[in-house]
Amino acid sequence: MNSQVIIFDTTLRDGEQSLQVSLSVKQKLKIALCLENLGVDVMEVGFPISSPGDFKSVQTISKNVKNSRICSLARCLDKDIDTAAEAMSLADSFRIHIFLATSTLHMESKLKKNFDEIINMATTSAKRALRYTDDVEFSCEDASRTTIDNLCRIVEKLINIGVKTINIPDTVGYTTSNEISFTIEKLFQKVPNIDKSIISVHCHNDLGMAVGNSISAIQAGARQIEGTINGIGERAGNTALEEVIMAIKVRKDTLNAFTKIKHKEIYRTSQIISQICNLPIPPNKAIVGSNAFSHSSGIHQDGVLKNRKNYEIIDPRTIGMKEVKLNLTSRSGRAAVKHYMTEMGYKESDYNIDELYTDFLKLADKKGQVFDYDLEALAFINQQQEQPEYFSLSFFSVQSISNGLSTASVKLLCGKSTYTESATTSNGPIDAVYQALNRITCYSISLQKYQLIAKGRGKDALGQVNILVEYKNRKFHGVGLATDIIESSAQAMINALNNIWKSDQVNEKLKILKKCNISKK
Ligand code: KIV
Ligand code: ZN
Repeated sequence: MNSQVIIFDTTLRDGEQSLQVSLSVKQKLKIALCLENLGVDVMEVGFPISSPGDFKSVQTISKNVKNSRICSLARCLDKDIDTAAEAMSLADSFRIHIFLATSTLHMESKLKKNFDEIINMATTSAKRALRYTDDVEFSCEDASRTTIDNLCRIVEKLINIGVKTINIPDTVGYTTSNEISFTIEKLFQKVPNIDKSIISVHCHNDLGMAVGNSISAIQAGARQIEGTINGIGERAGNTALEEVIMAIKVRKDTLNAFTKIKHKEIYRTSQIISQICNLPIPPNKAIVGSNAFSHSSGIHQDGVLKNRKNYEIIDPRTIGMKEVKLNLTSRSGRAAVKHYMTEMGYKESDYNIDELYTDFLKLADKKGQVFDYDLEALAFINQQQEQPEYFSLSFFSVQSISNGLSTASVKLLCGKSTYTESATTSNGPIDAVYQALNRITCYSISLQKYQLIAKGRGKDALGQVNILVEYKNRKFHGVGLATDIIESSAQAMINALNNIWKSDQVNEKLKILKKCNISKK
C-alpha cells in the first residue's frame, strides 16, 4: 500500500540563511503563501532567536498561513525554544524544531561535550519544547557522521519523552545512498519505540547526491523529506523538493508512496521563489529548468512527434507549465490583465492590480505585445519594491563608441528634487551610467556581482539585471527589468540604492548629499 511522505519545506530557513541579502518580511510572507498554495505539509519559516527581523517574519507568517504546519528552529537552549514558541503563538498549531550535533567530530571540536551530556541537553530541551506543543522535531545534526549506536541511543530517549519527528540530517552533504539506507534501516531494526515517530531526512547537496539520498531514505522507510524549492541553501544547497516530489509521483510504481502536493503549483512556486530570492534557475535544472522539457536532437524531436512518451517521462502540464500564450497589447484593459493572471493561477491577493496595470501599459507601449511571462515578471519583480521609493530614474541617455569611450547622462529623482550628472568611461555604457548615478548619490559602494538574464523568449524577451553591491560592509541586492538592458541595469542600481537608502540613517544621507555639493537642476 502507498503511504504518505510528509513534505517539510525549509526554503525560508535553511534556504534563506544562505542568501547574500536577507529577504524582507513582505517577501517572506509572499513565499510562505506560495508554499501553502503548493500544499507543503510543514514549512520551517525561520530561526526566531537569530534576529528581530526573523522573529517578525515568523510571527507574520504564523498569523497568515493556515493550511500548512508552521515550524521554527531552535538550538537546545531555553531562550531559543521560548522565543520560537512566542514567535509562533498566533499560529493555529505549530512545530518546534530543535537540533544538536551528535557526531564525535562536532561533539569534541565544536561543543566540547561528551555523548551523555548531549543526551541530557537534548532531552531537557525536548521536554521544554513539549510544554508549548505536542509537535516537536529533533535533528541529530551531522547524523551522517554519527555512529549508529549513538544515533539509536539518542533517538530512543527522545521518542520516549514524546518527540514525534526524528530528523537525520546529512549536514555536510557527505553520505551516499547505501549509507543513508543502512542508517534508516538500522534505526528501524534497533530502536524499539521507532514506530511512535516519523523518521525524516534532511540532505545537503555538496556531492550532488541530496535528491538521490532522500529517495533512498524513502525506500528504507523515511516518511518525511526536508528540502527547499529549487534546492536553494547553504553551499551547494539542500534537497530540491520539486525533484523529490516528482520522483515520488512518476515512480510510484517502485517507491510506493505519495505526497499531498498540488503538482500544478510547482512551476509557479519555483518561478516566484527564484525571482524573489534573486537566484536564477539553471536551464538544465531537473523539473523546473527552461530546458527540462525541450528536445534539441533531431532523433529525439522526431521520436517526440511520433509519441511524446518516447522521450518525455513527465507532461510539463503536470507541474503547471503552460504553452506560452499571446497576448495583450496596450489596448487591453485591466480586466484582461486580471483575467490572464487568474488563468495563470494567481489570486488577486498575490499582486497589486493597480501597479501591475500601470507597469503593463508602459511595457505594452514599448514592446507591442505582452506575454504571460512578462506579466509574471512585472508582478513579481517591480512590485517587490516597497513604496515609496526615494530614488527614481527620470531620464538617461548613453553614447557608446566601439573601442572608445562611453558617455552617460542621468537625471535622478531623489525625494522631491531632481539631479543630473554625466560620466565618461572606457568601460562601456553601463559603467558610465553607474558612475553618473554614483556622482549624484555619493554612496561609497562597490559592485560585487552583475548578472543579465533574458526573461521570456527570443527577441521579445525582457532583460533582467541582478546586481549585488557592498556598502559599509553590508551587501545589497538590486533588480531591474526593462526592454532595454541599459535601462534595466540602471534600474537595478537604483533599486540597490533605494535599499541602501532605507537602511541608512536619514541624517547621514543628508550629510552625504551636502558634502558632495551636487548641483540641483
Ligand atoms: O543541515 C542541518 O543539519 C540543519 C539542521 C538544523 C537540521 O539544517
Ligand atoms: Zn541544513
